[in-house]
Amino acid sequence: MTESQDALAHLAWQVELGADEAILDAPVNRFEAVETASRAPSAFAKAVEAPQSAPPVARTPDKAATAAAAVSHAQALAASAGSLQKLRDALAGFEACDLRHGARNLVFSDGNPAARVMIVGEAPGRDEDIQGKPFVGRAGQLLDAMLGAIGLSRTSEDAETSVYITNMLPWRPPQNRDPTPEEIAMLQPFVRRHVELADPEVLVLMGNWACFGLLGKRGITRLRGSWDEVLGRPALPMFHPAFLLRQPSEKAKAWADLLSLKAKLRGET
Ligand code: URA
Repeated sequence: MTESQDALAHLAWQVELGADEAILDAPVNRFEAVETASRAPSAFAKAVEAPQSAPPVARTPDKAATAAAAVSHAQALAASAGSLQKLRDALAGFEACDLRHGARNLVFSDGNPAARVMIVGEAPGRDEDIQGKPFVGRAGQLLDAMLGAIGLSRTSEDAETSVYITNMLPWRPPQNRDPTPEEIAMLQPFVRRHVELADPEVLVLMGNWACFGLLGKRGITRLRGSWDEVLGRPALPMFHPAFLLRQPSEKAKAWADLLSLKAKLRGET
């Protein structure tokens, strides 16, 4: 085999394994990265380690303390944001979450911030990461169709008929993996503040991670369709559109939930 045939065969093998996308513009030398990381802890890890005056003992920063410090930092940053733009800036400057390093863009929101309905999804996928907007891929198209069926749209300028959309995570997790509980915990203060600032009448929580992040509950199959409460307003857990794309037979339940949302907006329930 020539060198280029060999390289092509390796590439085909990686695609076969599911590595079908370049996450960064340039290749990363992971061997070098591991060496560098073991020599130099991140700026955030350093900040939560012992003060500079402590004796220079080589030790790994305590994971739980680092995670707790990230949450307090997030709470302080989120609380001090007085507008949606300031909240977006605060997130953009939040260095504690490693997800940001693998993502192309921060995905903050779309739609009308004055809308009566705010939708909280899970995390950006590939298309959202590229465009910097939530729900623009196939799941987003289904979401738009679902909303359209009850007279709502993210492009409407009328608060009555529009929606405002965000996600539990503002950065795409590598390979769309599930977020860790630590990531949810450090991003939750931003989403809660996002809800406070947008101040919708009604929340829709799409999928397990939105329910876990804002209700502290998991099990969307059990939760969906039952109104709950987040920050003093009604919140409706619903199946995520990506799930409905995989399980079209569950669309009838999503339709029942959309009708429940419509009735809530009409003041009928
Ligand atoms: N799924 C989500 O939960 N959010 C998006 O933005 C896209 C897909």
